[in-house]
Amino acid sequence: MAVDTDKPAMTVFYKVDDMDETQTGVLDTIEAIVTSIKHKPGALLPILHRIQDQFGYIPDAAIGVIATHLRSTAADVHGVISFYHYFRSEKPGKHVIEICRAEACQAQGCREFERHVREKLGIDFDQTTPNRDISLKAVYCLGNCATGPSIRVGDKIKGRMSPAKFDRLVDELTTFKLELK
Ligand code: FES
Repeated sequence: MAVDTDKPAMTVFYKVDDMDETQTGVLDTIEAIVTSIKHKPGALLPILHRIQDQFGYIPDAAIGVIATHLRSTAADVHGVISFYHYFRSEKPGKHVIEICRAEACQAQGCREFERHVREKLGIDFDQTTPNRDISLKAVYCLGNCATGPSIRVGDKIKGRMSPAKFDRLVDELTTFKLELK
């Protein structure tokens, strides 16, 4: 039997059962990201950031690819993902709302505000509404301490949040606007 010496001498196992779209395309993208960064020192975090930027979360299938290329274990990669709150292991909703729970925002009533948010959306932190419109995340300081309670929606930070302001925001995010000409 001929041996193909161009191929790397390692076996790569991929977990693909969490993928619903073009599985090969997703894996190709993950491979491309990992191979473009893996030689840099401390490559794991930049790889995870790039993958989350690309997919909105870290698909399970990425863990095996990363572990293989970095000569690490799936448990180690998984450990890093779960250590950093920033990384998501599940596909987020259409909009991600992050609520600051740090001290300055707490002093400005964020606990009460949080209660309203959870009731309004019917979900807790790290959950997504059943219609997959909104995911809720906790963060610890958004650098907007003087005007808390603060939240971030996508890349926009909003301060002085109140229950009424939040309800208006949810309406805006979830209302489909028709453009009349
Ligand atoms: S403490 Fe909430 S933005 Fe800094």
